[in-house]
Amino acid sequence: MSGSNIIVTDDAQALYVRGAEEIAHFAGEAICTHGEFTLCLSGGSTPLATYELLATRFHLSVDWKEVQFFWGDERCVQPVDPGSNYGMANRAMLSRLAIRPDQVHRIRGEEPPEQAARAYEDELRTRFGVVEGEFPQFSLVLLGLGENSHTASLFPGSSAIREIERMAVAVEVDAPERHRVSLTAPVFNNAARVMFMAAGENKAQAVWNILEGPRDPEKFPAQLISPTNGELVWLLDKAAARLLS
Ligand code: 6PG
Repeated sequence: MSGSNIIVTDDAQALYVRGAEEIAHFAGEAICTHGEFTLCLSGGSTPLATYELLATRFHLSVDWKEVQFFWGDERCVQPVDPGSNYGMANRAMLSRLAIRPDQVHRIRGEEPPEQAARAYEDELRTRFGVVEGEFPQFSLVLLGLGENSHTASLFPGSSAIREIERMAVAVEVDAPERHRVSLTAPVFNNAARVMFMAAGENKAQAVWNILEGPRDPEKFPAQLISPTNGELVWLLDKAAARLLS
């Protein structure tokens, strides 16, 4: 995958800080140019410390009233459940920021998955003013990487990875919180920027699969992510980047 910008930090702590710096920088740029920053958040555990840093050490670096928050995927649980991606971001960051409820566009994980996926598509269409067949353009999409090379909730072998029309789909995955809603690859690829964050030795093989392995998105779904007109950034710590040439 040529053309992606790979940043390698010494360790996970440095990656969390660099992640917050990059997000604050992209926010400033988007707000200056477009008057708003549409940020699509990732779940999992990797971004937690970055979200906390944004709400604390970095909170004066971003004009939060101009930020709109979205999610790349959600587990089908109540928003207060420890497994909820919205819940994690809310506890780590959103609840600490002076933002209005209308800035937060969560996927309703407490509803039946297909219903939640359709409702999220409606919300995206309304918020971005796009019609059926068009995709929203996020200022920045954050993504994580699973050890099995999944990203968002696009898992190996799932039909969701072949989706080219829908913006959000219901998926059943082989992981805790089996029922999920995920945005699809065409939405991620329409973003102005996509930034992956991955830390730790256990991610090294998946990082190599995506960046240097043979092309096989059925097996390595994160290979699908390649913004059409946007920028791709990989933020890795040394341990996760260990196998890269
Ligand atoms: C989720 C995700 C998922 C995650 C990766 C990495 O809801 O689980 O959005 O794609 O980003 O599995 O997770 P960790 O950061 O916990 O390793």
